[in-house]
Amino acid sequence: MSLGRLLDGVQTIAILCNQWGDTGKGKFSDYFASQWADVIARGTGGNNAGHTVVNDGKEKVFRSLPAGIAYDHLGKINVLGNGMVLDLQVLSEELDELQKEGMSYNNLLISEDAHVVMPYHISRDKAWNQTQKDGGIGSTGNGIGPCYADKIARRGVRIGDLFDKDLLANKIKRASAFYPEHKLDLEEVLSRILPLAEKIRPLVKDTVVHMQGFLKRGKKILLEGAQGLLLSIEHGTYPYVTSSDSSLNGTAAGVGLSAKVVDLPLGTIKFPFMTRVGGGPFPTELGSTTAEEYCGGEGITKLFELKKYRIPYVKRDGGIHYDCHHRTILNLMNSKDPFEQGVGIRLAASEYGAVTGRPRRIGWTDAVAARYAIEANATFNIILTKTDAVAGAEHFRVCYGYKQGPSTLTTFRRAPQFLRSVRPSYSQYEGYGDINSLRDEANLPQSLRGAIGDFEKFTGSSVAIVSVGPQPDQTIVTGEAGR
Ligand code: IMP
Repeated sequence: MSLGRLLDGVQTIAILCNQWGDTGKGKFSDYFASQWADVIARGTGGNNAGHTVVNDGKEKVFRSLPAGIAYDHLGKINVLGNGMVLDLQVLSEELDELQKEGMSYNNLLISEDAHVVMPYHISRDKAWNQTQKDGGIGSTGNGIGPCYADKIARRGVRIGDLFDKDLLANKIKRASAFYPEHKLDLEEVLSRILPLAEKIRPLVKDTVVHMQGFLKRGKKILLEGAQGLLLSIEHGTYPYVTSSDSSLNGTAAGVGLSAKVVDLPLGTIKFPFMTRVGGGPFPTELGSTTAEEYCGGEGITKLFELKKYRIPYVKRDGGIHYDCHHRTILNLMNSKDPFEQGVGIRLAASEYGAVTGRPRRIGWTDAVAARYAIEANATFNIILTKTDAVAGAEHFRVCYGYKQGPSTLTTFRRAPQFLRSVRPSYSQYEGYGDINSLRDEANLPQSLRGAIGDFEKFTGSSVAIVSVGPQPDQTIVTGEAGR
């Protein structure tokens, strides 16, 4: 892949999702980490963000670590920034797994200012938010929200606090008083946390000083976004959001830099379908609230859907494998019933949480929401992802307006009440077949090229890359990127 002009004179890139997460940032973080960056840094979220990288047909899911950790042996520096929240147990397991696979983490830096997810955060999150029952938003259940709440309330435990046992014990005692339902055994918690802290101690640094130094020394820096703009605590569909600011600003602040130093913010957008996990408004959702409730229900998994629709599968290498182009899946995708269409696209695109296994809700790409996200993130260069996944659909749609009563509105407003009150206004395009093997923009099906052109015009962006499959080489770089 040659990105030519787009990368001229660029020292800092951010890869950010312009939807509700899960847009395949992992593939491109991996590309820029391997081919371009000296430093790869994450600034927001924690192990709620799973990014999947596929190489040589093998899938690897990263949870807290940046995808660049796979290139530690090349001397590339990976940073877990000050804006992150870290579950030490999960981080430790990820590090062990790297070692088991013969990979190193000698150049990993962990911010002393990142906050520590405590057991009482996880139990509170599970009790209040993991399900969508009783007003929960359907969080990942990893304690992210309560941990950030403690950070904002200035009672959080930071990575740097782990190395002074008395200070740590006092901080835990003080903070855990806000979680009376959690019966905390302080000695037990300390006995679990302290060895984990010792394990990471050599990696813990004031990473902001390092990041500023990398910038001054001309190192090429890749900021790896987490979640997506529409899940940002600042810009998203509050309260159906994560608890960090996953925008360009939040991601840069989360590694101690200004967004102004990011030369090339790249935005990922799934096209022509998009997804959302957990509760919250989603104007283009296929099957609307029925699908939302169904996807939030218990026991709805990939396996459940494969069995329900009698699609043959095999269990191999810890995963479930099936033919994404199976006739039943194509029939579902082309059903007259939008709910079934959604199931068909979910199965065709294998849209199930990389970490949680939850089914992702499915809808056509919403250009109104995308334009809002592109502007908020200043990501005028776009990577379209999963474009190959709806091969075989007789038609596809893109939403360019919201119908509300007699009006059609083209401005996004993030209030859930607003988004739930509108109906999408679509342009419909002819479907296309397999595009996995295409490498040249000119060979993309005409209807898809037309839709991409319409999308660019409406959103004021340039599509720089079209991803036509999970493998690194299944990528088309378009000719006229950049503004
Ligand atoms: P939390 O981040 O676990 O608190 O979850 C808050 C909301 O963000 C829920 O709707 C989650 O499904 C969603 N969310 C969190 N992380 C991700 C992600 O990596 N991809 C997609 N959705 C996410």
